[in-house]
Amino acid sequence: METSLLDDVHYVSDLGDFIVPATLRVVSDLRIADHLRDGPRKVTELAELTGAHPRALLRALRVLAARGIFRETDPENFELTRRAQLLRGDHPFSLRDGLTLLSCDVEAFARFDHSVRTNEASFDHVHGEGYWEWMSRHPDESARFDATQQGATRLELRASFAAYDWSELGSIADIGGGNGAFLAGLLSRYRSLKGCLFDLPHVVEGAPRILDKAGVTERCEIRGGSFFEAVPAGYDAYLMKRILYSWPDDKVRAVLRTVRAAMREDSRMLLIEPMETPGNAREPGKVYDLLMLALGGGSARSEDHLAALFDEAGLRLERVVPTLMYPIVEARPR
Ligand SMILES: C[S@@+](CC[C@H](N)C(=O)[O-])C[C@H]1O[C@@H](n2cnc3c(N)ncnc32)[C@H](O)[C@@H]1O
Repeated sequence: METSLLDDVHYVSDLGDFIVPATLRVVSDLRIADHLRDGPRKVTELAELTGAHPRALLRALRVLAARGIFRETDPENFELTRRAQLLRGDHPFSLRDGLTLLSCDVEAFARFDHSVRTNEASFDHVHGEGYWEWMSRHPDESARFDATQQGATRLELRASFAAYDWSELGSIADIGGGNGAFLAGLLSRYRSLKGCLFDLPHVVEGAPRILDKAGVTERCEIRGGSFFEAVPAGYDAYLMKRILYSWPDDKVRAVLRTVRAAMREDSRMLLIEPMETPGNAREPGKVYDLLMLALGGGSARSEDHLAALFDEAGLRLERVVPTLMYPIVEARPR
């Protein structure tokens, strides 16, 4: 076989395999990169520190070392590479807790064929209920989910500070704001801004610790509820970060109606989420589009598609502001 054909075989089988992502997840959970922060260590020492089996851990680290994550400096002695630094908990762009691969997601993807055949969520098909109902009954997975969101939020905060003038706002409600990580970051940067965190009751339970750590508790209200029923009224801005793309159009219409009803005539709505882009460039948004299909029957949407949904809810899409991560879409009452 020619070398190039063999390369193709390796490339395609790497793409199709779930073993490397599972290994990365386990090594992150064991906090191996944190244990290597101060320099190389023997696998036996790492195994003792983490409660892993030394031989099994060695095999796992070698698979990741072959992909540029960790380097085996001497036999059975590993150090961090630049990419492995991202698995440290204290890295500013840490991915340690941000890697998805929740077991409920994996189970949904085992039946992704259902989504591709029907354009509906395989999650509901497999688990017999929607993502958020399932999460509300599984507190450990729910906390893990919130941690994955926090990982992405660190990057999104940096990207949106640079791209958007948040200082114009006096108050902002983060609708579906999770455990408050994004709002805490905004309020600690803009000291005169007041906030309201709104999410499902079991999710906002985790917020006081995060707001407190950021020193913004006094300027932030916390409200539990459903955005299909009502959201707090009268804020200058209504942010929804990575919300609408999780839902099909009929649910998006319902959320937009509720939020529009809470807005003043001079409020603005801000979405931050992947949008559908033309072409086949390799972009994270394209992959998340499929994640949203499998987990909620949702989809990344084009500017025209969003504009039409806004229009039905009495809103006008004003502009799409690009950022280094996902764009910020601004809409106002019309
Ligand atoms: C993909 S997460 C995004 C979280 C956060 N905005 C972020 O970007 O990190 C979607 C959020 O919507 C919340 N959510 C789902 N259904 C909701 C509902 N009916 N009312 C309020 N929040 C809801 C979830 O609890 C979750 O925090």
